Amino acid sequence: MSQKKHVEIVVIGSGPGGYAAAFRAADLGKKVLLVERDNDLGGVCLNRGCIPSKALLHISKIIHEAKYLSTIGVTYPDPKIDLESIRAYKNKVVSQLNNGIKQLAKARKVESLQGLATFKSNDEILVVSENNETIISFDKCIIAAGSSSSLIPGLPKNHPSVLTSKTALDLIDIPKKLLVIGGGVIGLELGQVYASLGSSVSVVEFLPNLIPGADQDIVKPLHRRLKKQFSSIMLSSKVVSVKSNSDNTLVVEIQSDKGLKTETYDKVLVSVGRKPNTNLLNISSTDVFVNKNGYIDVDEYQRTSQKNIFAIGDIVGNPMLAHKATHEGKVAAEVASGHPAVMDPKAIPSVVYTDPEVAWTGLTELEAKENNIPYEKGEFPWAASGKAIILNASQGKTKILFDPETKQVLGAGIVGPSAGDLISEAALAIEMGSDAEDISLTVHPHPTLGETFAAAAEVYTGTITDLYIPSK
Ligand code: NAI
Repeated sequence: MSQKKHVEIVVIGSGPGGYAAAFRAADLGKKVLLVERDNDLGGVCLNRGCIPSKALLHISKIIHEAKYLSTIGVTYPDPKIDLESIRAYKNKVVSQLNNGIKQLAKARKVESLQGLATFKSNDEILVVSENNETIISFDKCIIAAGSSSSLIPGLPKNHPSVLTSKTALDLIDIPKKLLVIGGGVIGLELGQVYASLGSSVSVVEFLPNLIPGADQDIVKPLHRRLKKQFSSIMLSSKVVSVKSNSDNTLVVEIQSDKGLKTETYDKVLVSVGRKPNTNLLNISSTDVFVNKNGYIDVDEYQRTSQKNIFAIGDIVGNPMLAHKATHEGKVAAEVASGHPAVMDPKAIPSVVYTDPEVAWTGLTELEAKENNIPYEKGEFPWAASGKAIILNASQGKTKILFDPETKQVLGAGIVGPSAGDLISEAALAIEMGSDAEDISLTVHPHPTLGETFAAAAEVYTGTITDLYIPSK
């Protein structure tokens, strides 16, 4: 027997988009139900994505820095890896944040319900858990059901040696030889984690570059580091077949312009992108329009084609980023609660949390060239930054793209430690419509990495004193 219940707003999915939407709507006085198929709130980002991977990357970075210290007079013995303790640390970080979300929900009287939600109509969902079925009727619904790892055809099914980002983060063991398929964000972040814990890591990337969507000048310092850390980086290459041996090792055929190569790996991590979870929702029982790529189309108010149903986060399309989902979630909650709000950011930062970090926001040079958008740039090499030299980060760089007429910031790219933190200044500059002088005349503290942002603007305005650039 199904139970029945009515709520003003139901949110499907409790990731950074879903819980932000639920909490914002509750703060605006709505009666909100948050439905989550997992036992814990927080979605992929908190439970098996951003947070656990960054916890592990923190360990990788310290291992690398401890090794570097031996070159400047402080020598530690080689690290001993206690996988169980590392797992416990990672799980503790996750559970602390899970509890935080639970507390925040309780404080706001946001009710949560565990179970898989599917639509019955434009104003009803069915939520099924192990022991219960509940029919929820709603005034408004916000879909925040996220995405899942894409796989490539021909992989052995449910094979213990084929990892996705989710199972790779379980850290079952440290494979001797790991092949990462896909040289994008997840592949490089998790590849670096496994390499620093002792795996011999190879990457196979279909396109000619790592992180193909980013400007290659800011990827280059990372590529150089990975060349030393990984056993091989195979570009313009594709996996043709993966076959299992009886001991669960995997025989992989890789095709490149140099020919066909066959190699045996202990494990393979598949990180070739993500696909929206639209197929889990029985969405065809509603009037919500799903486009040919499987994403739910929304307008700038996060409204779907069905007026009382909103959608946010990965399920509405790229970029699949937690911070984008959070902002969309707040807009959806505000519009659904009858308040004016719109999703119109000028820039959404992207960060690859490897060591060094790679970050960019706004216009990239790639996009500018592709779309014939005029730009000029100021670039500051970190070799001239005192703080970067102290940190052994002189390979880093900060660049800013400017509108040649207004001198306003169009985009920025940064590579080096803390690039992910530094890029926020660029995002703010773009949102505020700042021009080169606004940045170069802002007093930045010395010595910091932050001052490289002002220095890049000074290079552009011709007022830099930390470099000597002969006038043309
Ligand atoms: P991705 O799109 O970043 O990278 C996938 C890579 O795989 C691409 O370079 C693509 O050319 C390559 N590829 C595709 N098919 C291939 C094949 N058959 N053989 C070899 N290479 C192939 O996707 P990824 O790394 O799986 O991440 C998925 C999404 O998750 C990203 O779009 C990102 O938005 C999000 N994410 C963001 C993070 C962050 O912000 N730091 C961290 C992790 C994920």
